[in-house]
Amino acid sequence: MRAAWYDRQGPAAEVLRVGELPDPQPGPGEVRVRVTFSGVNAGDTKKRRGWLGSTMEYPRVIPHSDGAGRIDSVGAGVDPARAGRRVWVYGAQSYRPFGTAAQYTVVPEHLAVELPDEVDDRTGACLGIPGITAHRAVFADGPVTGLIVLVHGALGAVGSVAAQLARRAGATVVATVRRAEDLELVGGPAVALDAADPAAAIREHAPDGVDRIIEVGFSENVDLDARVARNTAVIAAYATRADRPGFPFWPMLFDNITIRLLGSDDFPAEDKQHAAADLTAAAREGALSFPFADPVPLEAAARAHEQVDAGSRRRVLLAIPG
Ligand SMILES: NC(=O)c1ccc[n+]([C@@H]2O[C@H](COP(=O)([O-])OP(=O)(O)OC[C@H]3O[C@@H](n4cnc5c(N)ncnc54)[C@H](OP(=O)(O)O)[C@@H]3O)[C@@H](O)[C@H]2O)c1
Repeated sequence: MRAAWYDRQGPAAEVLRVGELPDPQPGPGEVRVRVTFSGVNAGDTKKRRGWLGSTMEYPRVIPHSDGAGRIDSVGAGVDPARAGRRVWVYGAQSYRPFGTAAQYTVVPEHLAVELPDEVDDRTGACLGIPGITAHRAVFADGPVTGLIVLVHGALGAVGSVAAQLARRAGATVVATVRRAEDLELVGGPAVALDAADPAAAIREHAPDGVDRIIEVGFSENVDLDARVARNTAVIAAYATRADRPGFPFWPMLFDNITIRLLGSDDFPAEDKQHAAADLTAAAREGALSFPFADPVPLEAAARAHEQVDAGSRRRVLLAIPG
């Protein structure tokens, strides 16, 4: 099969290779997926470049956890009727060496989720890391119906799904972007963090404060969060700039704030499966939409990684040749 892989960590153009590798075969409980699109996420490029001193867990890695395609063969113990079904895939390169940047990927069958006819493969390939992270960020602390949810970085991969899921669940979403010139890209109530007083601007939409905060920049935003959170609010954080952030302890204590930290590789399996089912339903209803960049051919996989590392505003996909 054609595949992209790396045998050492480093810059994309130096370490990512594209060529022929043996076709993988599904073992017991596994399915083999003929991949059409491979979703590229920040977590994939961080693994490739050794972020936070991380080392290679396997001598060779085919990157990317997310993808979409069609099951073409199944291992022992898997319902043979699954062969031929369209699926989206998550976790393909989480605790496993060979992800979706290849013509075939093999995963435990529960990681290949049926893709409804209404949902195209490109959307399917965006549901994994961003979708499951966003789902848990929004719902891990209970339903959000009738609540006000502040979503920072609402143009990002995770942030945009979080905003769409929260709205679908009946929450009022207040979105933030970093720069005022991006406000026009966001639908609904939105605040630019470079405003003179972003806390006051958020309180115009939420005079009594916000109930939930979906946080992409904990260290940068926690003082602001403390100013706009209402009593018992939850800050669900999936990223931070500073490794050891400080925060205003007493004001947050008096407001009974919960800080929830999210590490999507290690969410409980049942929460991932619940998220996968909800995301599939939302996509089927047309409640999830993504701005796609032009898919990058598998042969130019390094370019796709560079687009993600440059902070692409559009979702980056590899198009896998037939
Ligand atoms: N913990 C987990 O399980 C988990 C899961 C998925 C992703 N992540 C991490 O989360 C981060 C974002 O991932 P992503 O895929 O959503 O990336 P992305 O598509 O690049 O989106 C990031 C968004 O956040 C915005 N942003 C950055 N810093 C911000 C801040 N301080 N305040 C408000 N908005 C801010 C960016 O705005 P600009 O466009 O203006 O820069 C951009 O819209 C990455 O570091 C990724 O590795 C963690």
